[in-house]
Amino acid sequence: MEERIIVAKFENVFYGRSVLACKDFTPNELRYMIDLALHLKELKKQNIPHHYLEGKNIALLFEKTSTRTRSSFVVASHDLGAYPEYMDSTGTQFGKKESVEDTAKVLGSMFDGIEFRGYKQSTVEGLAKFSGVPVWNGLTDEWHPTQMLADFMTMKEKFGHIKGLTLAFVGDGRNNMANSLLVAGTMLGVNVRIVTPSALHTDQKIVDIANSFAKETGANPIVTDNIKEGVKGANVIYTDVWVSMGENDWEERVKLLKPYEVNMDLMKMTGTPDDELIFMHCLPSFHDLNTVYGKEIFDKYGLKNMEVTDEVFRSKYAWQFIEAENRMHSIKAMMAVTLAPLYIPAYAVNGCKE
Ligand code: CP
Ligand code: NVA
Repeated sequence: MEERIIVAKFENVFYGRSVLACKDFTPNELRYMIDLALHLKELKKQNIPHHYLEGKNIALLFEKTSTRTRSSFVVASHDLGAYPEYMDSTGTQFGKKESVEDTAKVLGSMFDGIEFRGYKQSTVEGLAKFSGVPVWNGLTDEWHPTQMLADFMTMKEKFGHIKGLTLAFVGDGRNNMANSLLVAGTMLGVNVRIVTPSALHTDQKIVDIANSFAKETGANPIVTDNIKEGVKGANVIYTDVWVSMGENDWEERVKLLKPYEVNMDLMKMTGTPDDELIFMHCLPSFHDLNTVYGKEIFDKYGLKNMEVTDEVFRSKYAWQFIEAENRMHSIKAMMAVTLAPLYIPAYAVNGCKE
């Protein structure tokens, strides 16, 4: 008797992949993860279980501090049925007594996936190269890809679509957020404007990456020091801290970026109708004097806030806390598609709405 074995073709373009920077994915792949994140948010709100990672173990390796990214990975792991273990450079051999390669080999032999937050992009790349398991970049000096999933998810939640929107990032044009928004936004058809003093102009290498995607998506990425032109017609005013983790040049940044403070005048300068305009911030933020650094800057320079006024932060435009919550849903989507043997056919990825 003839025996027929039918083997269903396993299809999931994400399975086993690391997420080190958005540019390593296609625009459709980013869109798929964003849509899945919105779906998982809905499941969570309705208390519908989604244990796609039952029995998996997740390493969370942090060289830099974190509230949102750490919490998101922990809660997302639990919601997916996985076990997360937090490690930092004070409590492990990592960095001082053990190399990236050796750490990667050890963690990869025990854990199913590794999150890394730290300084160099080459470290997260090394972990991916040597661990043999998916590695997720939870922020480096260069990129913040998981923040991008949450940010464009938030924009889709607010506007119902992403392509064709205009986002003005006002602040330090050379940091991980400016880099990531310029490239990921352009990939998704968003007109991203980096509004920054010329001394902090975005690295040409990053601008070139964005320009290469712009040819494909028709987006119009711009870096400008002109606030008026940069924010005109924006749907999203986005800002970030003036001094990123690992940096220390407060004096220079305060001087350069004070004119780039996001205040109500700047919001009005967009000329965008109120219901088509939001404020976003990856957080944490210096919008008042209730932080140690905020207080120090007040004592030294007399500033009551840095990158954004308290008025904008608490205004009707403020979407930063929805954005923060979305970190968890989008990190969950990313972990699920890269680590669970889910059936995700190519047509599902390619059919995502812009
Ligand atoms: N936005 C963000 O990455 O926040 P944390 O530094 O708190 O993780
Ligand atoms: N640019 C900031 C982002 C924090 C989420 C930093 O690197 O500190």
